[in-house]
Amino acid sequence: MNRPDINGPPVAELVRRRFSCRSFAGRALESPVLEELERTAAGAAAPFGSRPRFGIIDNEKVRAENLFSSGSYGLIKGARFYLAALVRRDEPRRWEDAGFTLEAAVLHAAGLGLGTCWIGGVFDRKRFGRVLGIRAGEQLPAVVAVGWPAEKKSLRDRLVRWSSRGDRRKPAAGLFFAGGWDSPVAMESAGQWAQVLECVRLAPSASNKQPWRIVRLGNAFHFYLARDKAYSAMMPLADLQRIDLGIAMCHFELAAAEAGLEGKWRDLDPRVPGTPANYEYIVSFEIR
Ligand SMILES: Cc1cc2nc3c(=O)[nH]c(=O)nc-3n(C[C@H](O)[C@H](O)[C@H](O)COP(=O)(O)O)c2cc1C
Repeated sequence: MNRPDINGPPVAELVRRRFSCRSFAGRALESPVLEELERTAAGAAAPFGSRPRFGIIDNEKVRAENLFSSGSYGLIKGARFYLAALVRRDEPRRWEDAGFTLEAAVLHAAGLGLGTCWIGGVFDRKRFGRVLGIRAGEQLPAVVAVGWPAEKKSLRDRLVRWSSRGDRRKPAAGLFFAGGWDSPVAMESAGQWAQVLECVRLAPSASNKQPWRIVRLGNAFHFYLARDKAYSAMMPLADLQRIDLGIAMCHFELAAAEAGLEGKWRDLDPRVPGTPANYEYIVSFEIR
């Protein structure tokens, strides 16, 4: 994949600049910018080969259509536009691919100084789907609110950040391993890979659960999803945690490519001994 913002700051900086923006300024977003974001998502080769369709939702139109619909997630202030991916139900890795491709646009947006917020929980899926022209056999996994960030965060914004501990991340030692699940990766001696893994650690995830686990064995990084079953049961309309994995893959691939570290996504299921029962193997990145 080409990096999203070719002339912009390094990936590691885009990753650090991005945060979930829940207070947007009134300033309208120009349509060429929206189109650019849509193109970035469409241009990011989905690693599992599914072909999401992308679209922009104008919340004003959704609202105009139905007085009783607030359109979007109520905790986001002032968002008018949403970038969305529609996926086909019969594509098994649609969640990861939607996460991967939309996150490319999220990082691109960060490079342009725009605010974004992934929304996978509560939003008007039906109406948003209708506005996007959803077809039979398609699903709307999540949307990304996008706009110019407000200068001051709303009180609700600050409350949501605080309750989801949005600024916090698990330490690398709880997420990344080398040789087996009982040996955390030593970031000091991981060389350039340390920076790549740090870009994964800082990725956004639904309810900030950070479900990515990576174990390096030889020349491959194996990606697992530490599934929170109760959480998944609470969110039956989309597999948000697999979207999280797609987002992590996007950060990993872009950061690795920028560091000149070459590799390929492969299905290698290594059946690592001692893998916890709630860990699902997703994919491996094999170094060339
Ligand atoms: C797949 C996905 C779904 C999300 N859904 C919502 C949502 O419905 N509402 C919301 O306010 N934030 C949502 N978020 C944002 C997360 O809460 C946020 O990424 C996390 O708390 C970390 O904070 P940060 O993005 O500011 O680093 C979602 C994030 C992801 C990746």
